[in-house]
Amino acid sequence: MHNITLINGDGIGPEISEAVVDIIEASGLKINWDIQTAGEDVIEAEGSPLPERVLESIKKNKVALKAPVTTPIGKGFRSVNVQLRKSLDLYANLRPCKNLPNVKTRFSDVDIVVVRENTEDLYAGIERQVDENTAESIKIITRRASERIAKFALDYAVKNGRKEVCVVTKANIMKLSDGLFLDSFRLVAKNYPQIKTREILVDNLCMQLVQNPNQFDVLVLPNLYGDIVSDLCAGLIGGLGVAQGANIGLDCAVFEPVHGSAPDIKGQNKANPTALLLSAIEMLKYIGEFAYAEKIEAALFKTLESGECTADLGGKLGTKEFAKAVIENLT
Ligand code: NAI
Repeated sequence: MHNITLINGDGIGPEISEAVVDIIEASGLKINWDIQTAGEDVIEAEGSPLPERVLESIKKNKVALKAPVTTPIGKGFRSVNVQLRKSLDLYANLRPCKNLPNVKTRFSDVDIVVVRENTEDLYAGIERQVDENTAESIKIITRRASERIAKFALDYAVKNGRKEVCVVTKANIMKLSDGLFLDSFRLVAKNYPQIKTREILVDNLCMQLVQNPNQFDVLVLPNLYGDIVSDLCAGLIGGLGVAQGANIGLDCAVFEPVHGSAPDIKGQNKANPTALLLSAIEMLKYIGEFAYAEKIEAALFKTLESGECTADLGGKLGTKEFAKAVIENLT
């Protein structure tokens, strides 16, 4: 029996978590879910959207499935997501973007893996108001973080039979910071002669992605470009309802969809649980449960192939009905 932390989030989080837990349970896999609440709903009672008990639970269990959590604007709390990634040193953000059956998109056969550095860059949160009319944010890039994300991307490529890793920067302008990220990648890549490498500037990458995404395999990027480009790639495969993700560190891993808590559809049985389900499928592979991962993925694909889906993909099913359809397709 696996012990896994479940952060069921807020907004649509609890609805999609319930759907995913039901599907995994119906597959026959036994998981002991350590349910941890976080986000807006716990601030009043516990004084923080990310209480220490949540971090302790993940440190103990090593693996977590996380539904989205709202970041309160202007209340002085740091984003739960940024805090979680920093506290647990989840340095690699992995976002596989692959076309799904019957989900209509502009391009077919997109199969891109975005590897985003998760701990530094402009997300280090070093900002100051210089004067009334000037503010500055400092971009931090270190060799240590750049080399370990390069190694993660290249190792991922080797383990998953990928052919090419493309490093993305704006090193022509940010010669020192992005230059260091690029230089670190070049150095690490020398140890992977079996993987082809490519270098591209982030603006050119964006144009190429919307014109011909099939040319890309694995992308590795500093934090900010990674954040933006991974949403672009989510758009290539059908949008936020189907975009999965994972935050991986040396000791722990947190699997979560790309999307947020979608307050506009909260509590209406409209949310698509596919992104969280795909994240959970990756989590099952991570813990070595490949047979169950394949079984659930096959049921999900069969459901989508038969045209059964939620409203964001043009279908008629609610969250609960979609989960039920996937469960019926488990064989
Ligand atoms: P959002 O991703 O929550 O919603 C954007 C749009 O996509 C909305 O129209 C929403 O209804 C739709 N959408 C998102 N997920 C969907 C799903 N599974 N099925 C169907 N439609 C879906 O982004 P927004 O509105 O910018 O953020 C809302 C809150 O979520 C904010 O507080 C933000 O900070 C937080 N957030 C949390 C994340 C996390 O926990 N990892 C990631 C991104 C945002």
